[in-house]
This record gives sequence, structure tokens and C-alpha cells, in this order.
Amino acid sequence: MKKLTYTHNAQAAAVIARAYDTPPLAYVHSYGCQQNVNDGEKIRGVLLDIGFGLCENVEQADLILFNTCAVREHAEQRVFGNVGALKKLKEKNPRLMIGVCGCMAQQQHIVDKLRASYPYVDLVFGVDGIDRLPEILAQRLSRGKRYLENPSERNAVVEDLPIRRDSGFRAWLPIMYGCDNFCTYCIVPYVRGRERSRTPSDVLAEFRDLIARGYKEITLLGQNVNSYGKGLENEAGEPVDFADLLNLLCTVPGDYQIRFMTSHPKDASRKLIDTIAAQPHLCKHIHLPVQSGSNRLLREMNRHYTVEQYLDLVRYAREKIPGVTFSSDIIVGFPGETEEDFCATLDLIEKVRYTQLFTFIYSKREGTRAASMPDPTTHAEKAARMDRLLKLQDSIAFPMIAGLCGQTVRVLVEGAGRNPGTLNGRLDNNLVVEFSGDETLIGNYAQVRLTGSRAALLLGETVQNETDKKE
Ligand code: SAH
Ligand code: SF4
Ligand code: F3S
Repeated sequence: MKKLTYTHNAQAAAVIARAYDTPPLAYVHSYGCQQNVNDGEKIRGVLLDIGFGLCENVEQADLILFNTCAVREHAEQRVFGNVGALKKLKEKNPRLMIGVCGCMAQQQHIVDKLRASYPYVDLVFGVDGIDRLPEILAQRLSRGKRYLENPSERNAVVEDLPIRRDSGFRAWLPIMYGCDNFCTYCIVPYVRGRERSRTPSDVLAEFRDLIARGYKEITLLGQNVNSYGKGLENEAGEPVDFADLLNLLCTVPGDYQIRFMTSHPKDASRKLIDTIAAQPHLCKHIHLPVQSGSNRLLREMNRHYTVEQYLDLVRYAREKIPGVTFSSDIIVGFPGETEEDFCATLDLIEKVRYTQLFTFIYSKREGTRAASMPDPTTHAEKAARMDRLLKLQDSIAFPMIAGLCGQTVRVLVEGAGRNPGTLNGRLDNNLVVEFSGDETLIGNYAQVRLTGSRAALLLGETVQNETDKKE
């Protein structure tokens, strides 16, 4: 694994400055997971570093960049649709540059399609291209030719990238990149490359900086945060794992909370659970994607745990962490899923009682092992299963959420609520409460009394503004 450091590219900045009369504007849109959103923030940071301004509207833009996701077919189709819609804009404004980057651009068949059928796309580069963006733009501008990169893998970690974060109080903090798990349905290991961890000192430095700037919630990111640290050692020469990293970060004084995602059940250790129980800064919520409740399918998916092991972990966490809540990802209609397999998933959902589920109908991804598995179930049948699953989940979660009423909880106020005069806040357990309150509370903690609920949304009222610091 190579560690690289970003440095300002003055030459590229000069090429860009010469190409425009006034500072050019960039529109950057990220699809997909939080890793991608964080990459989008870095892309904006790099663009600002080389003289671009940012805009929120494609009509104003001199550069439009789509930072794409490849996890499901639907995500890819949306990107092709959105890129297609730009053709007219390009005809009106020939100096407009259109770029496609991110996970889709890590697939050769996508790059080939963009090359052949989307001649007005100027730039294509993959997930490893962010630090080289200045050079890529400079080449495009000075040569006047399309710049399309074929997918490659650098297996590197790039530090010191400039960043323009979307929020001033919640931040994404990647602790590792890539994935080595090769779940048979999943494209991520193919597009994001091999798993590599940032050093604890690099993570700590970024974390300290965020806390010093007043950030209240830091979400640590990785496709499998529980395997953090593979191949790394701390200063004393000992191996570090994810729980060690959490303990290290929690030594930073301040009023903040830490979340993390994603925990792979196969690597979620009792040590991790004990750490969550012991550290007040860690939110008492665990996103623990199970994918399926059938041991047969879990084997077919290459997940490396059984339903029994999963339930054991949940039981241990409930014992050690009072009030802990769980959320999960579920795939419905994996190739060969039988009614019996599906019922096993329903059974597991009843046993765990998740507060939130993220559910997906299986989407075939070219190049993955599951893509060649027989898949006789029709889409209509899969959709009907999904419907049953969602109904069951609502029947479990809604009463559970309603059961919280009467409590007074601390929330991080995230923004305006849907109804006028209301705010949205997130509880430690990741549930959202809508309550009446003043906009000045946004970005701060507030004490909210839970008074009711509407489906998964809690309703409440402010008790007092919480300004005193919790160390
Ligand atoms: N690394 C994370 C998740 C990454 S992708 C983890 O292991 O949990 C986010 C979710 O998308 C996955 O948890 C899975 O539920 C879903 N997903 C991934 N590939 C999929 C596919 N081919 N079809 C449908 N859903 C998929
Ligand atoms: Fe995909 Fe599995 Fe890796 Fe998650 S752990 S990103 S589901 S291969
Ligand atoms: Fe999508 Fe890439 Fe994330 S495929 S889910 S944006 S890692």
C-alpha cells in the first residue's frame, strides 16, 4: 500500500486560469454511499484549490462532474439518464466540460459505453483520480481532446486532500478504503480496490481538527470498519484494531458524538461492543447489515457468519449496552432465494427488532460471482416479497418508536423539519424527531421531550437549550 500526499499543482492552476476570462464554476453531484459523498467533498476541495468556484445549478456551470455509484443497476441508469440530459446544455455552451467519475468509471464496459455513445462527455476518471484532477483538467484544456481513463487500481491512500465539507457540524471521516470481502452479489471490491487503512495518527489528526472546528458528530467510514488496521501497527509496534482506534479518538476532549459504518457482522467483536458500552462519545446504535436470515443464502453470499452467530452478537450487545438499537441492510431476491429462505429473513427481523432497515431488491452486477447463479424468481415475486418484508418491519418498528414517548432525550439538531416552524434532530440511536424550536439550534445539541410519533418519525418539544459542555 502506497501513502501519497496531495500538493497544490500550480502549473495546472495556471492552465485553468488562462483558459477562462472569469473564474470557472463547477457543479459536482455525488451518488451512492457516504464514502462517495466524502469523495465529492474532496473533489470540491481540489477544484477550489485550483481556481474553480462552485455552483448549485448545472445551467451556470463550466464543469459538471457526476461522482457515480455502481452498486445497483438503477443507480447506473440514473447517471446515464442525467448525463444524457446534458447534451442540450453542451450544444448551447460548447466550452462546458462534462465529467463522469467515481465507481461507475472503474468498470471498463461503462468507460467503453461513455466513449462510444456519449461523445459530449469530456472527462472520465475513477475513484483514484481525485488528487490527479488538476492534471486531468489541465490536459483536457490544453490539448482540447477528451480525456477518458481506462480503469486502473493504484492501491494507495492519499492524505492531505483539500476538502469542502457539506456541513459545518457533521462530518464524514474515512478510516479505510476498498473492500476485500467479495460478497458474491457486490461490485464494491471490484470498483474500490483492495482494503487499506489510514494510519491511526492520520485519522486522529483529522479528527482533532474537526473537533477543534466545532464539529459535533463524526461518522467514521469504511466498507468494513471492523477489519480496520489490518497491516498497521501503532507507535509501540503493536497491531491496532477498530476498537483501539475508537478508544484513541475518544481521548480527544470535547462535546461530540461518534458514529461509524459499516460494521460487518463477521468481524464485529465483543471487544467492540464493550468499547461502545464504555465510551460515552460513541452512539448507542449499531448498523449491522445482515443481508439475509437464511444460513444457506449467507453461505451463497460469502458472508462468513451464521444467523446464530449474528443473533449471539445482538444478544451480547443488548446485555452490555442498555437501550442499544440496530439497523440493517437486507437483500430480497438473491439468486435462488426460496420462500423458505425469505421466511427465514422475516423470522430474523422479528427476532432482532431493528429500528431501521435499508432494503434492496437484488440487482445483478456483471463480473460478480452471483451474476452467473441461476435466478428463476420473477421480479414481480421479488417485489411482492419486498412488500411483505416492509409491512412486517413497519409493524415492528412503529410501535417500538412510539414506545419511546415520554422520554426526554438529547438530540443533535440537523436542520429544518418538514412542517413550518419545526426542526429535525437525531437521537443518539439514529431515530429522527421533529420538534418546534428556533433555527439557531441547528448544529447544536438540544434536549427534547418526545411527545408522539408518526410512522418512523418521532415528534417532540424542546425542553431547554443545551449549551453546557459534556466532556
Ligand atoms: N460494505 C457494506 C455495504 C456496502 S453496499 C456492508 O457490507 O454492509 C450497501 C448495501 O447495498 C449492502 O449492504 C447491500 O445490502 C446492498 N447491495 C450491494 N450489492 C447489491 C446488489 N447487487 N443488489 C442489491 N443490493 C445490493
Ligand atoms: Fe460489498 Fe460485502 Fe464489501 Fe460490503 S463487505 S462492500 S457488501 S463486498
Ligand atoms: Fe456505490 Fe461506490 Fe459506494 S458503488 S455504494 S458509491 S463504494
